[in-house]
Amino acid sequence: MKSSFSLAALAFSATKVVAFPSSMFHVDISEEEKRSIAGIAATIEAGAKNKRAGTPLAPGFSASQQYVSTTGEYAFVAPGPTDLRGPCPGLNAMANHGYIPHNGVATITQFIQGTYDVVFGMGLDLATFLAVYGAVFDGDLTSWSIGGPPPAGLLSSIGLLGTPQGISGSHNKYESDVSPTRPDLYEYGNDYKVILSQFEQLYSSPLGPNGYDLTTLTPFRASRFQQSIDNNPHFFNGPFSGVAVQPAAYTFIYRFMSNKSAEYPEGYLDGDVLKSFFSITGEPGNFTWTEGNERIPDNWYKRAIGDEYTIPYFNVDLLAAALEYPQFLDVGGNTGTVNTFTGVDLQNVTGGVYDLSTLAQGDNALCFAYQFAQQAAPDILKGLFSSITPPLSKLNSALASVFSELSCPQLEAIDTAQFANYPGSTGSY
Ligand code: HEM
Ligand SMILES: *[C@@H]1O[C@H](CO)[C@@H](O)[C@H](O)[C@H]1NC(C)=O
Ligand SMILES: *[C@@H]1O[C@H](CO)[C@@H](O)[C@H](O)[C@H]1NC(C)=O
Ligand SMILES: *[C@@H]1O[C@H](CO)[C@@H](O)[C@H](O)[C@H]1NC(C)=O
Repeated sequence: MKSSFSLAALAFSATKVVAFPSSMFHVDISEEEKRSIAGIAATIEAGAKNKRAGTPLAPGFSASQQYVSTTGEYAFVAPGPTDLRGPCPGLNAMANHGYIPHNGVATITQFIQGTYDVVFGMGLDLATFLAVYGAVFDGDLTSWSIGGPPPAGLLSSIGLLGTPQGISGSHNKYESDVSPTRPDLYEYGNDYKVILSQFEQLYSSPLGPNGYDLTTLTPFRASRFQQSIDNNPHFFNGPFSGVAVQPAAYTFIYRFMSNKSAEYPEGYLDGDVLKSFFSITGEPGNFTWTEGNERIPDNWYKRAIGDEYTIPYFNVDLLAAALEYPQFLDVGGNTGTVNTFTGVDLQNVTGGVYDLSTLAQGDNALCFAYQFAQQAAPDILKGLFSSITPPLSKLNSALASVFSELSCPQLEAIDTAQFANYPGSTGSY
């Protein structure tokens, strides 16, 4: 397997995406959806010819290609009382501007088109995985809610044991502790309402060369990590939610929200754009958060075509943060009281395949996170579906694409008994 993402690999994975409709989506994706996914894959394959992915590059800038409309059919419309919004400012903003359905429930294809193609320039690989993961764990295998449980009738109920909970109800499966602006679930009783002091802290952090860039966000994450150790007796840095989702919640802020321009092709993120995407008004000292009103700023430019934020690119950011702050990869948590953070013995969890010192090497961190999620899936899915075969096959197809980009050791089994001492770990296996 390869250790870095190459042109050939991108073309290869794009080709495999074209093959999705017959393998991964055969259960319940319409012909129209199949065609649109094939179209997306063809676009990325064409873009791959003269671009590289996996490492940051000098992407260039094209105002006409990167401008994201906020007018006409894409004008901001605040959510109404029955519209669903949740912990993800990117998805909330897409719904408010009609890039995914305004009610907050979208299909896998709509999530992929919105995040990859139209609004943010997320890699097709990352967008597909994130959208399928949501459909499997928080939805009906086709669609899912960006907030809490959707009202009856919006999702299919075939094969489901109960109402899908949406990403607001996905703590430890998707939703994680140590979010930038959102609270830890077991500390505050919800995981999606902005804590203004957290936003204030971010806003007042020293800026990097590109504004609120990773040199700002990574130390902020370290501070938030320590706050969870200090204040949340049930803090849990989970194998998937802590290792793979928590870093995304930080890197996405700069990688996606920043405004791209000829002067700053990789983006500059200033305070006004940050406030707009986080639905914050006012000034330091009197900031106000209006729930669910996340806005794409007017005259804002997304990532360059061909410079999509892919899984290998995300891995570069994830590892840079972990080398600076090794605790980020320390799977474990508080044991019931604050300041009791104890790392689990990863060798015992993984049959000796991983340990803390090797997790920061190569693709190991993401390999471990995704492999753990795969091994833990059957137990979680048993509680959600009458038969786990359809959700497992969907998840495994999505994971197979991810693993084709990574160089991973074999993980045969996981021992979840190792998590018995962490009261905040429920839901992660
Ligand atoms: C299908 C694609 C996506 C899925 C499934 C997804 C899902 C999620 C989930 C589950 C969370 C909660 C994580 C946590 O507890 O910290 C989250 C948070 C977040 N997401 Fe997304 N997201 C997606 C796309 C995006 C995009 C395109 C952006 C672009 C700005 C974005 C930005 C963020 C940020 C900044 C947070 C952290 C919010 C905070 O706590 O302050 N996401 N997302
Ligand atoms: C909010 O704070 C800013 C800066 O401190 C100040 O200029 C402004 O008048 C305040 N606004 C309100 C409504 O208090
Ligand atoms: C984005 O950058 C361009 C070029 O500097 C600028 O004209 C535009 O106003 C910026 N947009 C936002 C929302 O700051
Ligand atoms: C981990 O495995 C080692 C070696 O088998 C054993 O000595 C140790 O007690 C185990 N730790 C836990 C917490 O199970």
